Amino acid sequence: MKKLQLISILLVIILASLGCQRNKTSQTAGFDPRVEPLLKKMTLEEKLGQLNQFSNPYISTGTGETSAHNENFDEMVRDGLIGSFLNVLGAEETLRLQKIAVEESRLGIPLIFAFDVIHGYKTMFPIPLAEAASFDRAAMQQSARIAAVEAAANGLNWTFAPMIDVSRDPRWGRIMEGAGEDVYLNEQAAIARVRGFQGDDLSAANTIAACAKHFAAYGAPFGGREYNMVDMSERMLREVYFPPFQAAIDAGVATFMSAFNTIAGVPASADRWLFTEVLRDEWGFNGFVVSDWTSVEELIEHGIAESRYEAAWYGLNAGIDMDMMGRLYLDYGKQLIEDKKISEQQIDDMVRRILDVKFKLGLFDSPYQYSDLEKQEELTLHPEHLEASRDIARKSIVLMKNDLNILPLSKDIKRIAVIGPLANDKDAPIGNWRGSATPNSAVSLLEGMREAVGDRAEILYSEGTSLTLNEQQGFFTQLDYNTTDRSGFAHAIATARSADVVVMALGETAYISGECRSYADISLKGLQLELLREIRKTGKPVVLALFTGRPLVLTDVVEHTDAILNCWLLGSESGHAIADVLFGDYNPSGKLPASFPYHVGQIPVFYEQLNTGRPFDPNPFEFSSMYRDIPNEPLFAFGHGLSYTTFAYSDLVLTNDTITMSESITIKATVTNTGNYDGEEVVQLYIRDVIGKGVSRPLLQLKGFEKIMIEKGASKEVAFTIHPDDLAFFRLDKQFAPETGKFEVYIGTASNNLSLKGEFELVE
Ligand code: BGC
Repeated sequence: MKKLQLISILLVIILASLGCQRNKTSQTAGFDPRVEPLLKKMTLEEKLGQLNQFSNPYISTGTGETSAHNENFDEMVRDGLIGSFLNVLGAEETLRLQKIAVEESRLGIPLIFAFDVIHGYKTMFPIPLAEAASFDRAAMQQSARIAAVEAAANGLNWTFAPMIDVSRDPRWGRIMEGAGEDVYLNEQAAIARVRGFQGDDLSAANTIAACAKHFAAYGAPFGGREYNMVDMSERMLREVYFPPFQAAIDAGVATFMSAFNTIAGVPASADRWLFTEVLRDEWGFNGFVVSDWTSVEELIEHGIAESRYEAAWYGLNAGIDMDMMGRLYLDYGKQLIEDKKISEQQIDDMVRRILDVKFKLGLFDSPYQYSDLEKQEELTLHPEHLEASRDIARKSIVLMKNDLNILPLSKDIKRIAVIGPLANDKDAPIGNWRGSATPNSAVSLLEGMREAVGDRAEILYSEGTSLTLNEQQGFFTQLDYNTTDRSGFAHAIATARSADVVVMALGETAYISGECRSYADISLKGLQLELLREIRKTGKPVVLALFTGRPLVLTDVVEHTDAILNCWLLGSESGHAIADVLFGDYNPSGKLPASFPYHVGQIPVFYEQLNTGRPFDPNPFEFSSMYRDIPNEPLFAFGHGLSYTTFAYSDLVLTNDTITMSESITIKATVTNTGNYDGEEVVQLYIRDVIGKGVSRPLLQLKGFEKIMIEKGASKEVAFTIHPDDLAFFRLDKQFAPETGKFEVYIGTASNNLSLKGEFELVE
């Protein structure tokens, strides 16, 4: 009996110690072995120091004046009180600060330098929404790779990108920064961009840590108003807003950023369920989490914390490892531990995660490798980077309309008028979140076209109307744009009259989209539509080159154009890329990553809809799901984009009629180039889960795409492999898993143009 007792006591002890160990290994799994010994040497103050990030006081990417102006950063670095800086740029200054950290602080822990390298550092690539339109994984990876190379050479080792917030609301200005409305496309962009920034070896001198942001659901603010509340079902979170973040983790993303918004009343930056239960316990994420700019301190404004002390507690307790700009953990961490609100163990876990990323970046081994003046000189704006930018820009352009095949413009045309406020604008194409770009450094449309035609044709130019902001009247209102001065119209009309064809350059300037650029009215600003109408009256063919950071409402615009080329905000090489497409040196291949609404009142408008109990039925017209005054459909659907050639789809083949939970199915189709140009097509695969057991499933979900080049007259077969895991959803039993049943398969050229249909069944 005694023996038995002894054995069971021993068993309990062994199990208990195993339990502890398991806990420990899961927290430190894959961590650099040097983390633990270093942590042991750190004082509590030094530990708390690692949890703080401050901005260069002269570059603000957040709310106005920062307390940071009063800090003595050199001294704080020397004392080990800062873990990271943001917005400190250039090999020289990063090297200076890094030397203080490494050589003058007690433990020599290096700093990590962060910056918003969103679509380029100095060589600018298309804004992320535009680049998503390329539906080209390699292109997205390449632009991130080059951005990392330039950023790393300028002393940076961490970017606050990719932003992978699904967004179905173009009123929200930050839709420009993600991959649009679709889950799968955002997942693919997340993977490509994380791989691009981080490369194969994070410790290399030309790779930087990526940051998946903003966790979670930041792209769904009520009314499209920046920072506004978010409220949605757990199903919507898990099926739409979470998956790109899980994809980023699978791609090895080093860090996460918390969102500004509340979800169901809980501010994300205080949400323990999000950051501890889901992110760490469920998904096993081992990197660290940074708050957004003062988002922990803002818990006071959110009305859940009464003081900075309480706000600090919420942030720490939720699992927000690093406080951007708040200084809260430094000010209150010690007291929170003394008051037993937070354990030192919790702080240790956070420090471990931060140190580990620093080790992985190679910062302990070669702290100065990122700050290399020679490399900075050599690599920044390298001609090969600009070449890549032009190529990716061309791939991102979407031909939205091309009546009578007016495009490409014939090389025999003698006089082309380029009209509009964005024709000669060298700044707009750089877009918002422009890294370290030089203002007015993009190739304008006018420059690009002039270079393309040389002496072959005459390019006439007229601005017509201006889009200049009148800052005196306030930055954000529609009134800031000229709505009264028509003095440029006469010249523009005369210019159009004297030309054979008109290219109108209309849309948005760089800062109309981006953070805190929400607009209730997303039609063309100022007098642009009026100018277009006047030009249309001349009877000349009109091509609209649209510059924009978001889907716009173009319903009144379309009828006044023969062709629309969505030129987004394409970065440094914008004008060259657009000219390539206008004159047919590149056949457009982009597809819309987000629906262009017919009317702002449709928003949120997106293709991944449920059927409703009363789907739209024009006959008998009563009591079905519809608007009385406008169509249900957007003006331009997700996935839409024309080419100068045409493609025909045929021969849908499914390898099986039935698959089990452990089998995959291959779905094949043949695409034939039936037109007169060689061209690339984005072949899109959508699936419908016909019957969900107790949960209604969307009519269509993008589950695959392939971008392929097909020569004129040729055919190619495309094959997609779908595994039951790709069909998983948040079921009624709260499992994220597939369900048996029938699935419809659609393949085609756009979400509203899917000519091939098949089906298969998933069984146990
Ligand atoms: C933005 C983040 C950004 C941070 C630092 C915030 O205002 O929401 O996306 O990374 O500033 O610039």
